[in-house]
Amino acid sequence: MNETIQTILGRRSIRAYKPDQLDPDSLEMLLDAGKYAPSAMNQQPWHFTVIQNGSLLEKLETSCKTVFMESDIEALRELARRDGFSVFYRAPALVIVTGDSGALAPQYDCTLAMQNMMLAAASLGIGSCWMHAVMMFYATEKGKELFRSLGIVFPERHQPYASAVFGYRAVPLPEAEPRKPGTVTMVG
Ligand SMILES: Cc1cc2nc3c(=O)[nH]c(=O)nc-3n(C[C@H](O)[C@H](O)[C@H](O)COP(=O)(O)O)c2cc1C
Repeated sequence: MNETIQTILGRRSIRAYKPDQLDPDSLEMLLDAGKYAPSAMNQQPWHFTVIQNGSLLEKLETSCKTVFMESDIEALRELARRDGFSVFYRAPALVIVTGDSGALAPQYDCTLAMQNMMLAAASLGIGSCWMHAVMMFYATEKGKELFRSLGIVFPERHQPYASAVFGYRAVPLPEAEPRKPGTVTMVG
């Protein structure tokens, strides 16, 4: 198996991080990997917002937690009530990929960019985990207002389509869950 396939199969969502900040050269490589994702008509409609300031992350985290607490989904409410639960898993860096909402396919473009980043991270020994609460929170008026009030301002017409935390894992690499059977049909 070549190294790329090994990285793809070996990437896992990481939910506990060391406090150490990402090495700046590695962060640069992750961002480059994101920028080299495919995009509809090569519009590259993305923008990468990197948040590494601990107190800013804490403020955003507290608000994102309310999304879980007020969710219709009991499992999310239960998760948020757990002692010591942290939406961002105390990771040192959060990346939000916003896209121009007027582009052809910004959600796909930004998601592909983030997947490139997560795979590049895995190849460099950096953990990552998708952060859906960011998009859920930004979808609310309260969320948009909070981002503004924290000084997290996106380019005009942009909205978050992908978000993930990055950092060095503080736990062993989790085992992959078994793959669901019957998800492939070969036609012809
Ligand atoms: C659209 C999407 C939303 C997700 N949201 C979250 C999230 O908010 N918090 C979290 O811990 N993991 C989140 N995940 C990670 C999944 O739980 C994880 O990918 C899945 O359990 C498979 O585990 P693996 O990534 O280790 O293979 C999300 C993944 C996707 C694709």
